[in-house]
Amino acid sequence: MNAEETLQEWFPLSFQAYLKQDWPNAVLHMGRPLVVWRSAEGTWFAQDDMCPHKLAPLSDGSITATGDAIRCSLHGWQFQGCGTCSMIPSLPANASIPGNKKYAVRSFPIRQRGDCLWIWMDPSVPPDENHPRMQDASWELKNGYQRELPYSWDFLFENILDPTHVAYAHCGVGKEFNRTEVDDIRENHVTNLQTRSNNLGVQLKFDRTINGRTANETWDFLYPGVWFLRRNTSETGPAGVIVASPIDTNRVRIMSGQYNPNPPPETKKKQSWKAKLQRQIFTVVFHRSLNKFFNSDAFLLRYPQDLIAAACSENSNPLSHYELASPADQGTVAFRRWHRQRLGGKLPMANPSLLPKIPRQIHCRTHGRTTQQQHYYDTTTGGGFLGTAYAILQQLFASISHGTTGQCGIGSSGSFGGSKVVAGS
Ligand code: FES
Ligand SMILES: [Fe+2]
Repeated sequence: MNAEETLQEWFPLSFQAYLKQDWPNAVLHMGRPLVVWRSAEGTWFAQDDMCPHKLAPLSDGSITATGDAIRCSLHGWQFQGCGTCSMIPSLPANASIPGNKKYAVRSFPIRQRGDCLWIWMDPSVPPDENHPRMQDASWELKNGYQRELPYSWDFLFENILDPTHVAYAHCGVGKEFNRTEVDDIRENHVTNLQTRSNNLGVQLKFDRTINGRTANETWDFLYPGVWFLRRNTSETGPAGVIVASPIDTNRVRIMSGQYNPNPPPETKKKQSWKAKLQRQIFTVVFHRSLNKFFNSDAFLLRYPQDLIAAACSENSNPLSHYELASPADQGTVAFRRWHRQRLGGKLPMANPSLLPKIPRQIHCRTHGRTTQQQHYYDTTTGGGFLGTAYAILQQLFASISHGTTGQCGIGSSGSFGGSKVVAGS
């Protein structure tokens, strides 16, 4: 796979719920600053976050009243979803916009499958509309869990092809590992591990005993960033799925949902308040437990990544630094070999020379959070109904204990469900 072919893929970008629907979003994706926006008709677009006029970030602009173009906030130039410049306000009234590509902004094709947006990162090649993730209804993932993690894309997939870390690194998280200590990994062990690799990715099969019960598991990694977990089911059955893309060289954005080969038909029944409350409680619990899960090994993964980066040049092979002793480490070996053979040990990145890496964080004016952080915050603390109730209780509690009604609750808190969030924009 050469550098161009690496980008000729559909990369997972975001669930819809993590993006503002009627305002431009700044999204750092594969090292490239993008503006992602939605037209009034509901079509999503992604473009370089840089106005061709004087390079202002388009993500600071707005959607036009007609809803079919994005307007730069510096001098009001407008761009359609295809990137063509459709308005230069300072031109004389009778002048037309010169039909020159240099006035256009670069656009990247986006397709929506279920609630998940996928982006084609090589605009010079027509996107593959026949790709299984574009055609297969199983890939219509519903809005699920999304988060940015403080380590790189390759360390994520190396780690989630390493089943023996789970009992220790995630000890005490969830009912399967509900202990404060694991003294003996044989209580929670992996046997008969076999690996298979091809151009598309890596597959692991093994038996895992958790709290006395043994299950056969199949874990699959597929380029450019899909991971399946299947337990005691066929390879074509439903699966837990994680999809992920690099944010930059040190961070990865993950999305988790349910892959279902036989999705039930959509019912458009109006939901009762009880069903809505149940759903919101489920979302809070689901997000909280996944956050705990991913928090518990974040530092354990970033530390070796930084050690290896500090010790040697770019693209060094982590396998040359590891001492792997067990047959159960074969997932790590298989992934790293695949990574070197298919990607030369590099990350799939789309960092352009023109767009510098500018550290920034776009803040929501009311809450001081990015949209992604706001959604993450809402889903982990119960924004909306639960969040409001929580804020009222907090205010009441503060006024009782301190005799004050000062600011507290979701609007002013700086913590995100007790866990640190790394902004990707
Ligand atoms: S910089 Fe965007 S219109 Fe001038
Ligand atoms: Fe883990």
